[in-house]
Amino acid sequence: MERLQDKVAVVTGAGSGIGRAAARLMAREGARVVVADHRAETAEESAALVEQEGGRALPVAVDVTDEDSVAAMIASAVGEFGGLHVLCNHVGGTDPRRDLDVLRMDMDELDRAVARNMRSTLLGTRYALPHLIRAGGGSIVNTASVAALAGDVLQTSYGAVKAAVVAMTRSIAVQYGPRNVRCNAVAPGTVLTPALENNVPEDVVASLQRTTALPYLGTPEDIGHTMVFLASDESRYMTGQLLVVDGGMTMQSPAAEGRRAQLPL
Ligand SMILES: NC(=O)c1ccc[n+]([C@@H]2O[C@H](COP(=O)([O-])OP(=O)(O)OC[C@H]3O[C@@H](n4cnc5c(N)ncnc54)[C@H](O)[C@@H]3O)[C@@H](O)[C@H]2O)c1
Repeated sequence: MERLQDKVAVVTGAGSGIGRAAARLMAREGARVVVADHRAETAEESAALVEQEGGRALPVAVDVTDEDSVAAMIASAVGEFGGLHVLCNHVGGTDPRRDLDVLRMDMDELDRAVARNMRSTLLGTRYALPHLIRAGGGSIVNTASVAALAGDVLQTSYGAVKAAVVAMTRSIAVQYGPRNVRCNAVAPGTVLTPALENNVPEDVVASLQRTTALPYLGTPEDIGHTMVFLASDESRYMTGQLLVVDGGMTMQSPAAEGRRAQLPL
């Protein structure tokens, strides 16, 4: 299958987890991929994986919160591959040790959350847009989270900035839809990435499984496949949308788990 043949894609946060999976899957569909990450060595590892699978990849070190660095990342993509068609603004997240309830919230972490999730999305989009328009159109895929959809006792900043990413997705879609630039977002549920496994205690992961309708948690590839779909022309009539990929976590009634024993099968 070559759903991204002749396309050039930039994926931020591609040195690990979901971003790495998305970059590999896009390359398998024929895209030439810029794998961009803060950590140069992990970007290089991801690029090597793509190349081992017969794809084309350019590793780029970037800090997505820094305007000059983002501008240089987009310039590298266009310089190396001659244009740009897809941008995945994937970097995000907060530090769960500092992103707490409103009384105990570390205010510096709030500022970092804004930079890592919102500022990064806006900057990536700003520098990619002229090239997407020049190419006759393109697709921007932003990474939100189910945290944007429901309140929580902790990670106050995370939910707020991811909701802002969803709102920004709609504004980008409205502003540049007429230039044939689409912008959609993905809201992953619980995905077994290094970030999750290193930061979230096992008992919390088990409780997340209990609130998920399907009997398994997500893999990076589950989200990567959704990103390929949003990047490709298969989603050409979709823009400004949020695709929730959460194994049925947010659609499940809080009462369901307690009544599950009543099911005949
Ligand atoms: N894992 C989950 O369950 C889950 C659920 C919902 C949403 N998400 C979202 O997915 C995205 C990434 O999550 P992941 O699980 O793939 O994380 P991850 O930690 O595995 O990967 C994130 C990558 O981003 C890079 N990075 C961090 N700050 C950067 C910066 N300033 N500039 C450039 N690169 C930077 C890191 O080096 C890392 O390689 C985030 O937006 C997160 O909010 C994850």
